[in-house]
Amino acid sequence: MSTARIIIDGDEKNAFELPILTPTEGPRAIDVRQLYGKYKLFTHDPGFLSTSSCESKITFIDGDKGILRHRGYDIQDLAENCTYLEVCYLLLYGELPDEKQLADFTHTITYHTMVHEQLQFLYRGFPRRSHPMAILVGAVASLSAFYHDSLDISDPKQRDISAHRLIAKMPTLTAMAYKYSVGQPFIYPNNELDFSENFLHMLFATPCEPCKIKPALARAMNKILILHADHEQNASTSTVRLASSSQANPFACIGAGISSLWGPAHGGANEEVIKMLEEIGDVSRIPEFIQGVKDKKYRLMGFGHRVYKNYDPRAAVLKGSCDEVLEEIGVKNSKKLAIAKELERIALSDDYFVSRKLFPNVDFYSGIIYEAMGIPTELFTCLFAMARTVGWVAQWEEMFSDPDQKIGRPRQLYTGYPARKFAPVAKR
Ligand code: ACO
Repeated sequence: MSTARIIIDGDEKNAFELPILTPTEGPRAIDVRQLYGKYKLFTHDPGFLSTSSCESKITFIDGDKGILRHRGYDIQDLAENCTYLEVCYLLLYGELPDEKQLADFTHTITYHTMVHEQLQFLYRGFPRRSHPMAILVGAVASLSAFYHDSLDISDPKQRDISAHRLIAKMPTLTAMAYKYSVGQPFIYPNNELDFSENFLHMLFATPCEPCKIKPALARAMNKILILHADHEQNASTSTVRLASSSQANPFACIGAGISSLWGPAHGGANEEVIKMLEEIGDVSRIPEFIQGVKDKKYRLMGFGHRVYKNYDPRAAVLKGSCDEVLEEIGVKNSKKLAIAKELERIALSDDYFVSRKLFPNVDFYSGIIYEAMGIPTELFTCLFAMARTVGWVAQWEEMFSDPDQKIGRPRQLYTGYPARKFAPVAKR
C-alpha cells in the first residue's frame, strides 16, 4: 500500500504515515481519517479544494482534459444517443437498461407524475410574483408531508419509490410553479407523452385548445436534461449528501439541494447569463464589458468552473446544438447567440481568461436554447433542478450502500477569542 509521510515541525520523532487511496481514474487521495483520532491534527480546506468527501461509482470528471462520464459512458455519446430516462436508469442502477428494463422504468416514472391534489393549495399560498425556485424548494420539501409510505430510509424499496416519485414529479411541480406565476390553470401530466414532451406540454398547454409540442423542442429538452443529469460532488449534490447524512427524509434533502443550486455561482448562473447578454445588448459593447470583468466589477457568467480547467464538455455539446436547435425551432439571427459567440471568442484568446483557465460552462449556452424554446428566464434554474434530481437521488442512494458513511461534520480552525472572563451587563 502506498503511503504519504508527514513530519511535524521537522522532527523525525514526530513523523507518521498515512495511506494513499488509488481510484479507478483520477488523482490519488491521502486518507486522513485517522489524523485527528491518532494525531490530534485536522486538515484545513475551505471550499473543499483538495478534499474528497466520499467514494463514488457514478460520475467521473477529468477537469484538465474536459472529460465527463457517467458510469463509464462519455457524456457526448449519452447526449447524442439516449433518452433522458435511459440516462436516469443508468445513473440509478449502474447499467444502461435493456428494452424491457427501459419499458418498465418508463412505465413506473410515467405513473408517478401526478402530484397530490392538495399541493395546489400550497402553490396558491405563494404570492404570484414569487420566483419559481422559491416555490419549488417549498413544494419538493413538502412532499414529505404527502408521501409517508416512502420515508423509511432504511428500507431499500421505499428509497426506490421516493427516487421514482422525485424524478417523476419534478416536471409537474416545475410546470405548476410557472403556471401559477402567469395566472394560468395547472395542466395535469399526460401519460401518452414521453418525459420531455410531457413537461413541455404541462408548461405550454392551456385547457382552451389542443397543444402539440414540436418534436424539435422535445429533442432539445431531452438533450439538455441529459447534460444536466449529474456532475459528481458539486455544491448541491454535496448539500444533498450532507443533509441526508443526518438520515433526514429524501424530499427534505432534495429540497436542500435545490436551495444550494439556486445561487448564481452554481445553477442560478443560467439565468444570470441571459441577464448579462441582455445588459451587453450589442456585439460592439463586448470590449467594454470584458474590461469591466478584468477590473473585477463583475464576473463573466457562464464562464469558469471549479473542476473544469478546459472546455466544459456539456457546453461543447450545447454549443454544437445551439445553431441546429434554433434553426429547427425557427429562430433566425439570434442576437444573444451572436453576442455569446463573440464573447466566447474574445475570452478564449484573452490572457486574463486563458491564464486563469476560464472556459464556458454548461450554463453559457443552455439559456439561449431555453429562451428560443419560449421558456421564461426565471424558470431556467428550475429546469436545472428538474434534470439534476436524478443525480441527487442516485448519489443519495449510493450513500446507503457505503459502509463508511457517517454523519457529515466538518471541523473548524477556531480563530476567535480565547477564554474570557464574563462581566454582567451593568459592568460592560
Ligand atoms: N469571470 C471572471 N473571472 C473569473 C470568473 C468569471 N466567471 N470565474 C473565476 N474568475 C477568476 C477569479 O476572479 C479569480 O481570479 P484571481 O485569481 O485574479 O482572483 C480566478 O478566476 C479563480 O476564481 P475562483 O472564484 O477562485 O474560482 P472557483 O473555482 O472558486 O469558482 C466558479 C468557480 C464559482 C464557477 C466561478 O468560476 C464563477 O463564479 N463563475 C461564474 C458563475 C458561473 O458561471 N457559475 C456556474 C458554474 S457551473 C455550474 O454550477 C453548473
